[in-house]
Amino acid sequence: MTVKGLRPEVLSMETYVPGKTIEEVRRELGLERVVKLGSNENPYGPFPKALEAMMKELAEANRYPDIAFEEIKGLLAKLHGVTQKNIAISHGAEGMLQAMGKCFISPGDEVLIPSATYGLYREISRLMGAKVVNIPMNGYSTDMKGIANAVTDRTKLVWICNPNNPTGTVIDPESLEKFFMALPEDAWVVLDEAYAEFASPEELPDRARLISEGKNLVSVRTFSKAYGLAGARLGYGMAREEVVTAIDTVSEPFNANRLGIAAGVAVLTRDREACERARALILTERERVSQHLQAMGMSVVPSRTNFIFFDTPFHAENLAEELLYRGVIVRPCGGWGYQGAIRVTVGTEEENDIFLAALKETVETMREKDSGTGSHREVEDGPVR
Ligand SMILES: Cc1ncc(COP(=O)(O)O)c(C=O)c1O
Repeated sequence: MTVKGLRPEVLSMETYVPGKTIEEVRRELGLERVVKLGSNENPYGPFPKALEAMMKELAEANRYPDIAFEEIKGLLAKLHGVTQKNIAISHGAEGMLQAMGKCFISPGDEVLIPSATYGLYREISRLMGAKVVNIPMNGYSTDMKGIANAVTDRTKLVWICNPNNPTGTVIDPESLEKFFMALPEDAWVVLDEAYAEFASPEELPDRARLISEGKNLVSVRTFSKAYGLAGARLGYGMAREEVVTAIDTVSEPFNANRLGIAAGVAVLTRDREACERARALILTERERVSQHLQAMGMSVVPSRTNFIFFDTPFHAENLAEELLYRGVIVRPCGGWGYQGAIRVTVGTEEENDIFLAALKETVETMREKDSGTGSHREVEDGPVR
């Protein structure tokens, strides 16, 4: 049914199809045990002090939050070596990405987006009426040279995810810093660093310095991944003070909720040890799972995130569906142009073992089918997120 009156830009967007939830898979497939490794969540969160802080804050839920977000901005400023005036708070990183579109994109502006990256950049750009220019990947990596070559005087925004979702790769910081020289005065780089905490700092650009040098950069961050608070919806951006003012102007006034802020403050202070322990566990498991995948003959891209991207000789949608029947939710990457690739979140040791066992079984079954009739089902490539 068509809806009269919708903006044409809305019609140009693709509806977000989320990954399956545990409840959905349990219900649909009648499975008791379901392991969700499709959304890059942190299996160890929320950490104890964050949970305590949220429960305490519940009693204040009838009141709007502190619009200045003083306490959390102070903590973040200290963490990153910037000032409070360089920080804007948002409802998840998603809220900050939406604000980027509102701040920078006018209809007809050109935006550059690597071809295999977080899908929301394209949808926000389309909604704002931008002309989207896709920049092919260099294998599994973001091609900074390709992006620089595509810049024109109509380029307004360059969306870069670093470390990249879904491939898990990082851009060499030097090439990223050099890129600013290729940029027109009024063009901006949105650097989505949702997974930055899982890479080592020397592999990432010095965002605080770039901001203090006056570069056209907004770094976008989230509490959803390393801090284990995906459901509390808290994110932030870092940029020059004038840009933060613009972001706050286009955002709704109370664009983060009391529970998220209370949890965010707790995780940055009293939960630090628990959070660090979880991060270390994820990095150890990332290595262990990667080695097992390699031993199974998969082509694993070295990850700088809390997920692993690996290529297989199979059709990824079929593989993901077979895993689903075995109670494991992963993300097939055909929609990004990697027909055989899977993105799997690093879970707990137990969850990862369940995934590895299910994958082994699936691969054996698929190999048997391939060597037999070769007639396994073909499932269409899914959405990209
Ligand atoms: C690259 C990237 N940016 C942003 C987000 C959204 O994060 P948030 O939960 O903070 O909205 C995600 C979520 O998976 C992501 O992968």
